[in-house]
Amino acid sequence: MSDPQKTLVLIKPDAVRRGLIGEILRRYEAKGLCIEALELRTVEGDFADRHYAEHVGKGWYPELRSFITSGPLVALVLSGERAVEAVRAVNGATDGVAATPGSIRGDLCASKQHNVVHASDSPESATREVALWFPGV
Ligand code: CDP
Ligand code: MG
Repeated sequence: MSDPQKTLVLIKPDAVRRGLIGEILRRYEAKGLCIEALELRTVEGDFADRHYAEHVGKGWYPELRSFITSGPLVALVLSGERAVEAVRAVNGATDGVAATPGSIRGDLCASKQHNVVHASDSPESATREVALWFPGV
C-alpha cells in the first residue's frame, strides 16, 4: 500500500489568540487524520512571501502578510486517505461568512481574511508547503 497523503495546515494567529488550538485539532483528529508534525511558530514577512507565493502582488496581500506574521501560529502536517481534500472539506470555504456551518471556518469565524486555518489546496501544493515548513518530514 502506498503511504498516506500528507498536507500542510496552519492554525492562524487569530485562532491562536482566541484560544482555539484545541478545538481545531480536535476536529482533525475526529476526522481520522494523523498528526505527523506540529510546531508553534512566528514567521517573518519573507517566509510568508514564500508560503503565499501565488498571492504576492494581489491587492489584499500586504494585509494578509501582516496578519500571518502578527503572532504565533501552529504549523502542522496531517496525513490520511486523500488528506488534502479531507482537510479542505473540514476547513470549509475561504470566506467564514459563507462557509458551511459544521466546518471549522463556518463555525469559528466570520471573516474572509481572519479565517482561522490554512490548508494546502492540491497534492502539488502540499508537497511544496510541507517541504517549506518541515524539511525532512
Ligand atoms: O486559504 P484558502 O486557500 O481557502 O484561500 P486563498 O484564496 O488561497 O487565500 C489565501 C488566504 O488569503 C485566505 O485564507 C485569507 O486569509 C486571505 N484572503 C484575503 O485576505 N482576502 C481575499 N480576498 C482572499 C483571501
Ligand atoms: Mg489557498
